[in-house]
Amino acid sequence: MKVGIIGVGAVGSACAIALMQRGSAREIVLVDKTRARARAVALDMRYGAPVSPTADVRDGSYDDLKGADLVLITAGVNEKSGGATDRSDAEGRLKLLDANVSIYQEIVPQVVTAAPEALLVIVTDPPDPLADLTRHLAGHDRVISTGTVIDSLRFRVHLADRLGLNPASVEAMAIGEHGTSEVLLWSSATVAGLPIQDACQQCGEPFEKVREAVERDVRFANITIIEGNNASQYGIGIVCARGNGSGRARRAEHLPSCQLSTGLRRYPGVAQRGRPQRHHPGPYASDVGPRARAAPAQRRAPAGRGAPAAGCDPGFVTLSS
Ligand SMILES: NC(=O)c1ccc[n+]([C@@H]2O[C@H](COP(=O)([O-])OP(=O)(O)OC[C@H]3O[C@@H](n4cnc5c(N)ncnc54)[C@H](O)[C@@H]3O)[C@@H](O)[C@H]2O)c1
Repeated sequence: MKVGIIGVGAVGSACAIALMQRGSAREIVLVDKTRARARAVALDMRYGAPVSPTADVRDGSYDDLKGADLVLITAGVNEKSGGATDRSDAEGRLKLLDANVSIYQEIVPQVVTAAPEALLVIVTDPPDPLADLTRHLAGHDRVISTGTVIDSLRFRVHLADRLGLNPASVEAMAIGEHGTSEVLLWSSATVAGLPIQDACQQCGEPFEKVREAVERDVRFANITIIEGNNASQYGIGIVCARGNGSGRARRAEHLPSCQLSTGLRRYPGVAQRGRPQRHHPGPYASDVGPRARAAPAQRRAPAGRGAPAAGCDPGFVTLSS
């Protein structure tokens, strides 16, 4: 599989290294507006290539994306430089939308011209509105947002930490906006199939106490990381390499996403081009409080910027291959 990465900053580099180590790509092309940065990262990574499954890593121009199966777009203003690191600011990463819309308007047409068949994965914040814009700019629907996949993994990790368990035993998802207004689905969270309230009881932890602490840890995980290391990058890099892997897997995988609620068209989750996709509205009304109900209005793309205005309903997509 040939994979292009647009934007070789903290997140793009983490995606590249995770793809390389996982062996998810045969060929990786790194594109950045600062070519010297892409060149340096590619050169650095190439020294590890002889002992990794990926054969070829190089920097390139948009033309070099020709034949790419997948393009990850990570270019743009990040949370720190865009001022989206205030815990009390409900707008969160939506603050970055205007700046990153302009960047996407420049990038997406060039990607589509060079690699018209590629599946596009939107990582830049805020990913869901930018995925919608990308569908519009690309003129096709083979576009998926990283949505709340990393938030769901954070939910599992913090829940497991509180209960002294391995996160592999915990099933839990976050939906809605990737950011501080996200909704944690407590009603469907389980530990080895046991409802979370029962699991808390067995572990001797009061459920409400666990819930309060985990909500705080998950909702502000990103800001905590950025306060210490300027950018959140490694978790999302691993997720992107995994998402790419799930697109190639033989079995379907459920990931949290959302659908457009305008009635004009649905918000598809795409794992592999030309394959069926299903969307499952989540029956989780008890979890979807005021935060999620407020989210659709916040998700509107800026007027006059080329993207259709639409709200999103939380739900899941099945990624099929
Ligand atoms: N989806 C998620 O879960 C998630 C997680 C972490 C970060 N992010 C987002 O990912 C994005 C990247 O974050 P980062 O920390 O890597 O930022 P960064 O500043 O380290 O890197 C951004 C890169 O984009 C490049 N770039 C900017 N404009 C460009 C253009 N027009 N064409 C090509 N390249 C361009 C820059 O040169 C830079 O190398 C941000 O929007 C951040 O908020 C998303």
